[in-house]
Amino acid sequence: MNSSSPKPRHDHGILKFPDNFLWGAATSAFQVEGNSFNTDWWEWEQTAQPPEKRSGLAANQYELYEEDFDLTKKLGHNAHRLSLEWSRIEPTEGVYRISEIEHYRKVLTSLKEKNIKVMLTLWHFTLPKWVADKGGWENRQTSEYFNKFVQKVSFEYKDLVDFWITLNEPTVYIYHTYINRQWPSSKKAWIGRQVQTFFNLVSAHKKAYNSIHKHSSKPVGLAHNVQSFTPFKMHSLTQHLSVYLADLINNHSFYFITRGHHDFYGLNYYIHTRFKNFITSQKLSPVLDKGLQAQNVSDLGWEIYPQGIFDVLSDFGNHLPIYITECGIASTNDDRRTRFLINYLHEIGRAISSGINVKGFFYWSLLDNLEWHLGYDPKFGLIEVDFETQKRTPRPSAKVYQQIIEHNGIPHYLLKLLGHGIEVEEVLNKPRDI
Ligand code: BGC
Repeated sequence: MNSSSPKPRHDHGILKFPDNFLWGAATSAFQVEGNSFNTDWWEWEQTAQPPEKRSGLAANQYELYEEDFDLTKKLGHNAHRLSLEWSRIEPTEGVYRISEIEHYRKVLTSLKEKNIKVMLTLWHFTLPKWVADKGGWENRQTSEYFNKFVQKVSFEYKDLVDFWITLNEPTVYIYHTYINRQWPSSKKAWIGRQVQTFFNLVSAHKKAYNSIHKHSSKPVGLAHNVQSFTPFKMHSLTQHLSVYLADLINNHSFYFITRGHHDFYGLNYYIHTRFKNFITSQKLSPVLDKGLQAQNVSDLGWEIYPQGIFDVLSDFGNHLPIYITECGIASTNDDRRTRFLINYLHEIGRAISSGINVKGFFYWSLLDNLEWHLGYDPKFGLIEVDFETQKRTPRPSAKVYQQIIEHNGIPHYLLKLLGHGIEVEEVLNKPRDI
């Protein structure tokens, strides 16, 4: 808790989180830094994307990181998740740029100096061009290229990192690259190549886990995308079977195959899917009930379903410690984001009260950024970014999150927002009775 902030008057009015809980937000290098010329994504977007959806300068965090971390600190965060852009550090095979290694040292040091715990992701979707030219993750050798990079950076930054994330969402990468083909290289690929990519990512994670632990005793994990699945009709056996298979494939297969190579579970949670029919192809979208989901959704059409995070946590509970490495909402309506935060954190609090070892939460995202192939329209940020001027403005939801962090839990006056009868403004402007 910030020493200048008032102490909570009585604990019974607060849904308390455990001591030393990590409260933060997440970003990834390509989405916020800007000018990542040397990546497969940059090359692809020059022809595949309209100008307004190209990354360009993004939020220019490459230059503005100090300003962003000052805000992070001001907003009370005690942890931050960010990633390295591999293509900057190793622009050609085996050649490491000292100036870029130094750049990231300054970035990480800036967080350390502010007493913010660092969770560092080593691969978040983009590849150096030279790796992509050799076949990217389809090439068996890539896990070795990645491993050499990991050895280098884990040695360089061992004193600055508190948590290591090897890979971000390998299954989402496979989905967007090969199944809906909205990501580079947008080429048709046989199922064999998808499977090969999956196993190469498995091998990359395992090697990276071992390599990092040669230099660092800090926990190593993965940021894995998990979804909550429910049947549309409770009595439908085929829908239950769909849930079972989807859960097995999407939520557990990667963790199962890499078991023994995780010090914690990193879970990115966004999506709830209701199954209407049996899965007949790899595509899950035809079995979504769009009509139902439209009632309470984000700007991307993702259903707001707080109970889903409780369900996923129960499913993963009682093994390793859990960090929610991402969870957030794309919305131009910040009231919706505020309610989202309170509702989802309430469910996480409920999971903790029922004995599940959740140790941290990273809201996606600290600031508005490039939402990959969708460009800059989706607004995930606690901090609004004006992409013309690069001006940062914390949204009211960031301040609500700050109040939660200061109380290390959800104070009573915010819990009132769990229902729908009360306006966010009304609660925030009322004199507080915790
Ligand atoms: C990814 C982020 C992405 C976010 C919202 C996650 O799948 O890790 O890079 O921006 O979801 O779509």
